[in-house]
Amino acid sequence: MISKSRIIFICSFIFILPGFHLSAQKGNELKPKAWLLKKIDESLDESAKQYLYLMKQLPPERFPVTYYEKNKELFTSGPEPWLAGFYPGVLLYLYESKGNVVLYNEALRKMKAIEKEQYNKTTHDLGFMMYCSFGNAERIAPKPEYKSILVNSARSLSTRFNQQVGCIRSWGSGPSQFMVIIDNMMNLELLFAATRITGDSSYYKIAVTHANTTMKNHFRPDYSSYHLVIYDPETGAVIKKQTVQGAADESAWARGQAWGLYGYTMMYRETKDPEYLAQANHIAAFILNHPNLPKDKIPYWDFNAPQIPNTARDASAGAIICSALIELAGYAPSNVGKVYLKAAETMLASLSSPAYRASAGENDGFVLKHGTGNFPKNSDIDVPLIYADYYYVEAMLRYKNLQVK
Ligand code: GLY
Repeated sequence: MISKSRIIFICSFIFILPGFHLSAQKGNELKPKAWLLKKIDESLDESAKQYLYLMKQLPPERFPVTYYEKNKELFTSGPEPWLAGFYPGVLLYLYESKGNVVLYNEALRKMKAIEKEQYNKTTHDLGFMMYCSFGNAERIAPKPEYKSILVNSARSLSTRFNQQVGCIRSWGSGPSQFMVIIDNMMNLELLFAATRITGDSSYYKIAVTHANTTMKNHFRPDYSSYHLVIYDPETGAVIKKQTVQGAADESAWARGQAWGLYGYTMMYRETKDPEYLAQANHIAAFILNHPNLPKDKIPYWDFNAPQIPNTARDASAGAIICSALIELAGYAPSNVGKVYLKAAETMLASLSSPAYRASAGENDGFVLKHGTGNFPKNSDIDVPLIYADYYYVEAMLRYKNLQVK
């Protein structure tokens, strides 16, 4: 349970913190490097060209997921799955960077198809779906309709919250089936936006309670995290901790660690509670000090994958970690912030190199190669992934924004 003093501490911040996640790093003297800014500018130009190509490959109301080079096959989805918000999100980021209205109009067109998901109570992924799309659209050009969609989405997400467990349900139903995955930390940003828009602190309190419960139950003493924790929905007791997309129940699935790092960095931005900053710092230390983190700092799909070094990387995990580290660098003490920024610079340089970034016309329009979706299911291994592109473009914009301080 969340303590009374903590609620008071938290509530005092509700109405004064902005949620501008592209320029949240205001703490330290962090200077971007001129050579990397040049590389990023070139990469943003190329990324915009790639997406102008990708949009032409898509049937109306379809969303890009991945591309298999071997069969030259583009995989798309409708607006329902967890990743539908990333495509409009990339387009909006690229529009912000390049000012090309063709990208903006394509984003708005696709968002029309996602709009109805604001009432979808069957998924916990509404943060990914609605905040990466409508959240960015609202940040760029605020509109009452975006605010209303964000609030309705947060309301739908909140219906999955169980007070006894102290979490939003990810999966499962019935007794012994209250399943929460670490990824769910990413959906909380939407709840903070809803509190800012409405002044109703209930969304904020759900986000904080979920983050506290997850901090207690999802993490091991070394601050790596389990993928899935199963709770008893009646008592809130933990029934089981295990993996789904990782190599083993006790392993550190790379994207899970990335979601945790990004999630607690965002929690600190939104609440200024030092416990979240400490948690994000611990997760960063686990990742950056891990002996299996390669020299280019793009992780294998699982830090404990038994086949390392002969196994797939996950560029999506690299991009998420990179974006989170750039933000966290601004909150950490100056010497630690510099270490984070240096690691993020290595990641940005790696991802922007031909080893990971597709050349114009390659990859069917996706920007990054070498993502891994679900290794144990043998699904989407060593391929482009729409969410890898989203967090890579976000990381580039965050890095560029270090100049604006
Ligand atoms: N939330 C799904 C994933 O990270 O694969």
